[in-house]
Amino acid sequence: MITIIRTKNYDEMSRRAANIMAAQITLKNDSVLGLATGSTPVGMYQELIRRCEAGDLDFSRVRSVNLDEYVGLERTHDQSYYYFMNNNLFKHVNIDPAQTFLPDGTCKDTEAECRRYHDVILGMGGVDIQLLGIGGNGHIGFNEPAEAFAARTHCVQLAESTIKANARFFASESDVPRFALSMGIGEIMAAKKILILASGKAKAEAVKGMVAGPVSPQMPASILQFHPDVTLVADEEALSLL
Ligand code: GLP
Repeated sequence: MITIIRTKNYDEMSRRAANIMAAQITLKNDSVLGLATGSTPVGMYQELIRRCEAGDLDFSRVRSVNLDEYVGLERTHDQSYYYFMNNNLFKHVNIDPAQTFLPDGTCKDTEAECRRYHDVILGMGGVDIQLLGIGGNGHIGFNEPAEAFAARTHCVQLAESTIKANARFFASESDVPRFALSMGIGEIMAAKKILILASGKAKAEAVKGMVAGPVSPQMPASILQFHPDVTLVADEEALSLL
């Protein structure tokens, strides 16, 4: 079931999403957070940092597991998701870095790394809340439109539209990695709660497909219709086609 929280704009989306994350951490201080990258959650992370600095939020017992990582980017690369998480959240809050997990995009053997990461997720004993953004093509994590839903962490060839969308973060389009490691739909759907954020007109088609379209691996986010506890926090532009 998808509950929709409609906001005026990006800033309100970020604050309302931070309320949900903060409530989770407050009510269960050893929560396992499934975390996401991309431009969408940055404002929410800033709000969580502000609350942590103010003494209103404590990450000391929180553990986290991230959705995805590019293949082939060193952790020091400013577009690696490892770098993103450190800079946008981890180094600004009192989370234990040893309790934060991402797939290793620098691994030699991607299949072995995917198996290892699946075990990391299982070892967490269940994700309490999974944060998601949504791609313009309806991808979640890096689960691109496909013939079938992937159950587990896997190596994905990025869609042309994703490469183009993410080129803005790189010096040129040719610098965007072509492959990524991503949690599978099965692992995402196993989270107890899901919080998905969307902002802007570019997401309106995908949001419509997610909420109102047929459930199909061609629109990966549509699978969320089958999850019992999804909250979509989205601004008016992202909801404009519903
Ligand atoms: C990226 C990420 C997703 C993210 C999506 C949208 O490529 N792998 O986790 O949700 O695309 O990104 P943005 O929030 O920048 O629009």
